Order: sequence, then C-alpha cells, then structure tokens
Amino acid sequence: MRLVSSLLGLMTLTLTLTDVAIAALSSGCGKAPTITSGVKTITVDGTQRQFTIRVPQNYQNNKGYKLIYGLHWVGGRMDQVANGGDTGSKNWKYYGMQVLANETAIFVAPQGLNGGWANSGGSDLKFIDAMNNYIDSGLCVDQGQRFSIGFSYGGSMTYAIACARAKQFRAVSVIAGGVLSGCDGGNDPIAYFGIHGVRDGTLNIAGGRSMRDRFVKNNGCASMTGAKEPASGSRTHITTTATGCKTGYPVKWAAHDGGHIQAAADKPAPEENGEASWVGPEAWAFFNSLEVSTPK
Ligand SMILES: *[C@@H]1O[C@H](CO)[C@@H](O)[C@H](O)[C@H]1NC(C)=O
Repeated sequence: MRLVSSLLGLMTLTLTLTDVAIAALSSGCGKAPTITSGVKTITVDGTQRQFTIRVPQNYQNNKGYKLIYGLHWVGGRMDQVANGGDTGSKNWKYYGMQVLANETAIFVAPQGLNGGWANSGGSDLKFIDAMNNYIDSGLCVDQGQRFSIGFSYGGSMTYAIACARAKQFRAVSVIAGGVLSGCDGGNDPIAYFGIHGVRDGTLNIAGGRSMRDRFVKNNGCASMTGAKEPASGSRTHITTTATGCKTGYPVKWAAHDGGHIQAAADKPAPEENGEASWVGPEAWAFFNSLEVSTPK
C-alpha cells in the first residue's frame, strides 16, 4: 500500500514540484471508519492492552490524518494525557497538541503496564506496532505522519520508538526522558525534538543531551555540543535547531530553567501550568513542519 501510494506520489511530483506531499495512506482510507473515540482494548502477545483514542470530529475517510501518540509518565495514566492532566487543562490535552491540531490529527494515549514503559522483551514496542495496525485498518492514516511525544518514562518509551521504529514514525519529542525503555537498533535517522530542564534532578539533562546526540549523529547534523542553555534562575528557555542535518531529518533541542516537569513555562507563569507552556506549541510546530512525508 505504502509503495503504491509512494509511486502515485512520485507521479504527482512531476506535476507539483513545489508542494510535494507523498501520502502513504493506510488501508482504512476510503472506507467507513470502524474506530470511534474512546477506550479500546486489544490483545498483544496474550496480554490485554488498553489505549484511549480521539478521532477528529469532522473525520473524513479520504484524508490521511496524522497519528500522534502521547505517552504518560511513571505512575501516570492514559486519561491524564487525554484530559490534560488531573485538573483537565484544555490546552494541555495530549501534551498541548490536541487543540493546536484543530481536528487534523488522530490522538492516542496508550496505557503502560503497571504505570510504566519497561518494554520488557520489546513488549511495549509490540503494543505500538499492534496499535498502528489496528488504527491503520480502522481509520485513514498517513503512514508517513506518525509521531510520539511523552514525558519522563513516556519520553523514555518515545526514545525507544525513535531507536527501533524510525521507519514507522516521522518524528518524536522526548520531554525529560532517560534510557529506561531501551534503545533497540538506534542507528536510523528520525526527526527529533528533545526538551529538558537544566535543574532536572530525576533524569538529568546530561542524559537528555546524549540521547539527542544519537540523532544528531544519525541525522547527519553538525554537533550540538555547547548549544546555549538558560542559566538556572532565568525562568526562560532556549530552543536550538541543529544545522547541516539531512533534508527531512531535523533535530531541535529546548533547554529550560526548570526541573523534572512536563509543561515548562517561561516567567511569570507558574511551572507545570499547561495553559501557559511553550512545550505544546513548539512540539506541534515541529511535527507540523514535517508535513511532507519522507519516504524511507
Ligand atoms: C480550525 O479549522 C477550521 C476548519 O478548517 C477553520 O475554519 C478554523 O479557522 C481553524 N481554527 C483555528 C483556530 O485555526
């Protein structure tokens, strides 16, 4: 399917040299949707796994949608990601992306086993694969436009996805992650946006930099060593774009003067106020800038 779509895309390329969109449409395209918004349960390797999915309100089966996973933190739950935290902050739903996407993306918040993403024996990667397949056949997905974002343990699992599923995902954003879910493979390029607090005492920023640097290398970018980071106490953030990366494989790094938090905000907003965070807008802008699918 993907190959056929890519070929169709290439034929279109001769006609539209400027804005070339090579959509790899999933098998659910052109059919009545079999998935509605809500909590789903699927069996993966004999284990029941759950996820929450949000289908765009004006869903059209002939449009290849972005598919965006939001992975929860340790001890967290899928409904917290879907609802915008315990307080239900509208603008922090799916790490601040749902509102910004304005019904152009399908959002998924999977539930980790025991509140985490140990990914034992690759079990959570198999869960991701199973969700991709399930959603591809039930809805119209642009298979070249899958993304993952997560905080802490969810960032670690997002990193594991970047390492092992770079061909299935277009880009990831790792917020305050560590290498807690493994890095199977880890040699393929994928667009990468790392976000980390200079005062993170749980998973320190040095670890975040070295995770970033794996993709700086894989993507062929110039070294980001020494990229400017804000001073402790500055209550601000600095986002740097790597230079020299292979076309279609950018790397971004946002360092902020905060601790182990997901919704960093600049002064004078209080930390962890999803309504005021720059994280969602910058992560969404990064994903959305990769509108053109990169054939892999
Ligand atoms: C959301 O999308 C609709 C339909 O495409 C459009 O009319 C509206 O202006 C958009 N809203 C925002 C805030 O971009």
